[in-house]
Amino acid sequence: MKRIKIFDTTLRDGEQSPGVSLNSEEKCEIAKQLARLNVDCIEAGFPIASEGDFRAVQQIAREVKGPIIAALARAKKEDIDRAWEAIKDNEKPRIHTFLATSDLHLEKKLQISREVALSKIRESVTYARSLCTDVEFSAEDASRSDLEFLAQCVSTAIESGAKTINIPDTVGYATPSEMAEIIRYLKENVRGIENVDISVHCHNDLGLAVANSLASIEAGASQVECTINGIGERAGNAALEEIVMALYVRKNFYQSFTNINTQEIYRTSRLVSSLTGMNVQANKAIVGANAFAHESGIHQDGVLKDKRTYEILDSELIGLTGSQMVLGKHSGRHAFRKRIEDLGFKLSPADLNKAFIAFKEMADKKQQIHDMDLVTLISDIIFQG
Ligand code: KIV
Ligand code: ZN
Repeated sequence: MKRIKIFDTTLRDGEQSPGVSLNSEEKCEIAKQLARLNVDCIEAGFPIASEGDFRAVQQIAREVKGPIIAALARAKKEDIDRAWEAIKDNEKPRIHTFLATSDLHLEKKLQISREVALSKIRESVTYARSLCTDVEFSAEDASRSDLEFLAQCVSTAIESGAKTINIPDTVGYATPSEMAEIIRYLKENVRGIENVDISVHCHNDLGLAVANSLASIEAGASQVECTINGIGERAGNAALEEIVMALYVRKNFYQSFTNINTQEIYRTSRLVSSLTGMNVQANKAIVGANAFAHESGIHQDGVLKDKRTYEILDSELIGLTGSQMVLGKHSGRHAFRKRIEDLGFKLSPADLNKAFIAFKEMADKKQQIHDMDLVTLISDIIFQG
């Protein structure tokens, strides 16, 4: 079994979601919850980006213990200095520096040659290592980079002292087999790569971020970068809760595990959603309101007989209590009876029959029937006959 490190970037890439802006107190509250979730690394922010972000990263570095605290820096001395200044008071600081490696980014965005890019990687990683023993290098737009050149960049970063090499699918363009191929290629062609963590950082533009992260793990990545609820730039980043629970539920398949305290997943999701103002869609895997809800009669009947018929993971694992049955017009008699018994009612067969007919009439008018609706409905039957 291989341990997969979880690098959480909710407070950096996640905060880059359009419309999201967290103050220092809010970022710190989320960071403390991420520590309870037991992530391996918290990327707390991008200190050069603003005075506010610098202060938030510094506060997190001073107050949050347990995970590594990382700060992002472009491959520039002034960025690296600012990042180091923000995190240096933590017991486990990490400087995360990055440079684009695709020809598109080199030519159009940075307007530098491949040779200049290689010397910037050497200089920035060497400089970051002179300040901090834990340095991560990211090859931005790695998945659209020439593979041979990418291997040269990775090799340069490792020679210069990087301990983690991150391979981002910056624009969410890669497919799972392409990501796996990049990881395998680097493992075969870069000397010294066996001594560092290979990380992946997948964006969700084509809805493939989690699949790409998992395929990379299969190919040998030992760290994944992700965010709570999958928030992040554009369509977001790989969702932490989905990767963690996929590895948990399919551990025999992936032969991997994480150190995440899964009991804290739901609480963390709610906290991030309320502080960022980004709602979680109802059908979102793992943490959506409907993720453990069974509406159709056949499913409800099956789950009541044996949960495993329609549930592949227990909601209690992520910190919820019991499955969240939603009663609606497709619900069957079995689920209905169970719910009213759970609510404390004991009905005669005749009253149960009346109640079920009344419930079906109500369900035709109302999409979801909540416990309070049932209480009213049953009370009417009991008291009015
Ligand atoms: O998506 C990306 O490439 C990034 C890097 C800065 C790691 O966020
Ligand atoms: Zn990113």
